[in-house]
Amino acid sequence: MLPSMFFCTIACAAITIARASNILVFMPMPFKSHVRGFQPLFEELSRRGHNVTVVSSYPQNRQIANYTDIGPFISKNHERNVMEMVNMNFVTSALSVWEVGVKFSKILTHKAMVDFLQTNSVSFDLVIIETCCQEYTVALGHKFNAPVINLVPTMLWSSISKWIHVPSTFSYIPNVLLEITSDMSFTQRLKNTITGVLQLYIENYLYLPKMKEVMDTHFIYKGWESRPSLEDMLNNVSLTLVNSHHAVGVSRPYLPGVIDVGGMHIKESNSLSEDLQTFIESAEHGVIYFSFGSLINLNHLPKEKLNVFFGTIEKLKQKVILKWIPDGSIKLSQNVLTGSWFPQSDILAHPNVRLFITHGGLHSLEETVYYAKPVVAVPFFGDQHLNMKLVETKGYGKVVDYFEITEESFGNAIKEVLSDPTFKKNVEIQSRVYRDQPMKPLQRAVYWVEYVIRNGGAGHLKSDSVELNDMQYFLFDIVFILLILIVCIVWSCYLIVVRNASKLL
Ligand SMILES: *[C@@H]1O[C@H](CO)[C@@H](O)[C@H](O)[C@H]1NC(C)=O
Ligand SMILES: *[C@@H]1O[C@H](CO)[C@@H](O)[C@H](O)[C@H]1NC(C)=O
Ligand SMILES: *[C@@H]1O[C@H](CO)[C@@H](O)[C@H](O)[C@H]1NC(C)=O
Repeated sequence: MLPSMFFCTIACAAITIARASNILVFMPMPFKSHVRGFQPLFEELSRRGHNVTVVSSYPQNRQIANYTDIGPFISKNHERNVMEMVNMNFVTSALSVWEVGVKFSKILTHKAMVDFLQTNSVSFDLVIIETCCQEYTVALGHKFNAPVINLVPTMLWSSISKWIHVPSTFSYIPNVLLEITSDMSFTQRLKNTITGVLQLYIENYLYLPKMKEVMDTHFIYKGWESRPSLEDMLNNVSLTLVNSHHAVGVSRPYLPGVIDVGGMHIKESNSLSEDLQTFIESAEHGVIYFSFGSLINLNHLPKEKLNVFFGTIEKLKQKVILKWIPDGSIKLSQNVLTGSWFPQSDILAHPNVRLFITHGGLHSLEETVYYAKPVVAVPFFGDQHLNMKLVETKGYGKVVDYFEITEESFGNAIKEVLSDPTFKKNVEIQSRVYRDQPMKPLQRAVYWVEYVIRNGGAGHLKSDSVELNDMQYFLFDIVFILLILIVCIVWSCYLIVVRNASKLL
């Protein structure tokens, strides 16, 4: 009895030690919501005993066990005014993604980054990266001889899905940069195809060489000369974790190595602070929560737009919680509570909160669907237009166009969503779909990350098609031969008919 117990203890200890891995998360780009969306995963991995090192522009302001932050690499006054992005059309927004990638690669010259990239003393068993606008990061998998996991901040799009051969059929899978749903008109399919072709092919000639240049300048380490091509390394990513779910996105085909983990940041709601609790519960007509997320600063909006927003919410009989600190010159009425930060998810969980006014960011929508609150949205850029188009199709919210917004249109949208019970009913349906999952998104993400570690990169999850070139994949060679065959048959038939006809004459 005793010896076997002793043996068991040793064996169990060995298993635990074998499971604890050194994990590198490398996402230095200044995209706050991308890092924050996956932050719960990094922390959960450290809680499970892995040694997690996170290289990002957004370090935590607290100590976490088994967790090391490296960064930031960008100072606050260098942050973008994202309002520059609202004027883009579907082609310029595709091009601007490339521009962002090139422009922000200067982060790699930051001293702390250079130090990190040049040390040879650390080793990692797994490398987690985000390839959006920073494809070169995949080289770290080669440097540390470790499998690579790619994090995708929104629904998959062609720039990312092409490497792992997930089909992105343009006829019904909307591109994240467009304002369309799966049900497309002819023009929409045309736009979707143009954007898709830009990302599938043109990008490889205009943008990828720049990423290679960045890689060959900054990712120099022992043995880098024998590194596979950037394309080969991107083809070789072990697992892709996507911030999406069909309740807030679309229904589309995947491969075994692509896992939806949207909503990892949603925790069971905590109780609210006393003043928030009082504010919400004393609202006779309910409360509206108003936040444009972490990226859009209301102070960057033109005065006349601000006046529309404030003019409208001040006249509402509902109370409003507004995530914004107005400057001294603006006085808002009694029904509006302002602050630089609020526990958004706990507020949305409160039954007396009736509506969420949002920019249509994915994390916000995931929370609002989870807590079944309908929305009114003013989308600005990126995937926000697509997200809101999907919300409208599913019938749990209304969109107000930023350029055409007036007190009347904004006010009417708010009144309609509050007074028509269909919006609430539809969001409750989505909420049920979203909650009914075999395991929570965070557990699922952890399971698959550890699966990749256990299975040494899990190469078997990859598509069997990654070895094929486009000619083979799309069967162009076969179609070509078949066409020749058909032409030959038709030509022979023609000759026979002509010969017989001339004999008859
Ligand atoms: C840190 O990792 C060790 C094992 O490496 C584990 O036993 C411990 O629980 C972890 N600490 C926390 C606070 O999660
Ligand atoms: C954990 O990671 C940090 C930062 O990369 C490193 O300094 C430390 O040595 C690692 N700890 C272990 C036990 O490997
Ligand atoms: C692909 O990944 C595996 C395991 O992660 C690694 O052993 C292999 O060298 C990689 N191949 C290429 C071409 O990057």
